[in-house]
Amino acid sequence: MRLYAIFGNPVEHSISPILHNFVFKHTGFNGCYTKVLVENGQGLKDIFLGLQIKGANITVPHKEWAYRLADEVLGIAKEIGAVNTWYNDNGKIIAYNTDAPGFYESVRNFNFKQVLILGAGGTAKAIALYFRHKGYEPVILNRSAKRLSYFLEKNFQAFTWDEFRNGSYDLIINTTSAGLSDNTLPAPKELLEKIFSQAQNAVDVIYNKETPFLKLANDMGLITKDGTEMLLYQGILANEIFTDFSIDKKRIESLMRRSLELVG
Ligand SMILES: NC(=O)c1ccc[n+]([C@@H]2O[C@H](COP(=O)([O-])OP(=O)(O)OC[C@H]3O[C@@H](n4cnc5c(N)ncnc54)[C@H](OP(=O)(O)O)[C@@H]3O)[C@@H](O)[C@H]2O)c1
Repeated sequence: MRLYAIFGNPVEHSISPILHNFVFKHTGFNGCYTKVLVENGQGLKDIFLGLQIKGANITVPHKEWAYRLADEVLGIAKEIGAVNTWYNDNGKIIAYNTDAPGFYESVRNFNFKQVLILGAGGTAKAIALYFRHKGYEPVILNRSAKRLSYFLEKNFQAFTWDEFRNGSYDLIINTTSAGLSDNTLPAPKELLEKIFSQAQNAVDVIYNKETPFLKLANDMGLITKDGTEMLLYQGILANEIFTDFSIDKKRIESLMRRSLELVG
């Protein structure tokens, strides 16, 4: 049997094992996916190789360590500098970022040109670079200045709340953790109301809840989505890698969707 895992801290809330195990079970794939609490990111490689894990997802706060410790990084992850998926190729660690294409896939049915990203952390970097790769030029808006330097160096327009001059954006993406375990908005309410008054779509990467950000957007009549589809699509892409592309992608999607419905 092949062993798979999610590494993170905290990790107990993750529903990735349910998504992947459901696919394994219903396709007869001989695999099992579990959760491993990892406190020190530097130890990721020893755990992965020591337990002879075939594939892993890496979540907060270890995605940058996962990038540094990998033997080979493929695709857009090279530019992003953070990975969420490892594959064990006979002891060689091959790394990917499926968060960014997963997010992009989740908003493909929306109609948008101008994109505003709230937040400047790891998820914002991944989404901004991937959207640029797809021909968009997202603008970044963050609470504080420190994390903006990364975006400014890469020639993105990036602002703190105080510096921000209102433009017109079709798609607003919340990548901050505001609303994850508290009841806060990711930017001052008046600023968000101005931004939303010109926008059509709002998406939060936080999943399984209506955050204050999504509630305000819903109240103002925008079309909204939480992070469940991002979770789903990053999981589909990771599952394809884990199973050596041996399972049809549509089949993975329908099974993962069913498992999500079962867990509510
Ligand atoms: N759905 C999925 O599959 C999926 C995948 C990946 C991540 N996520 C979610 O994405 C979120 C961000 O993760 P990350 O790794 O990018 O985090 P991160 O690197 O720690 O960055 C957090 C960002 O949020 C901002 N922030 C935090 N609290 C805030 C508040 N109360 N008000 C305004 N801004 C605030 C920070 O601003 P400062 O710079 O000012 O501190 C920073 O820009 C998490 O909630 C995570 O669960 C979801």
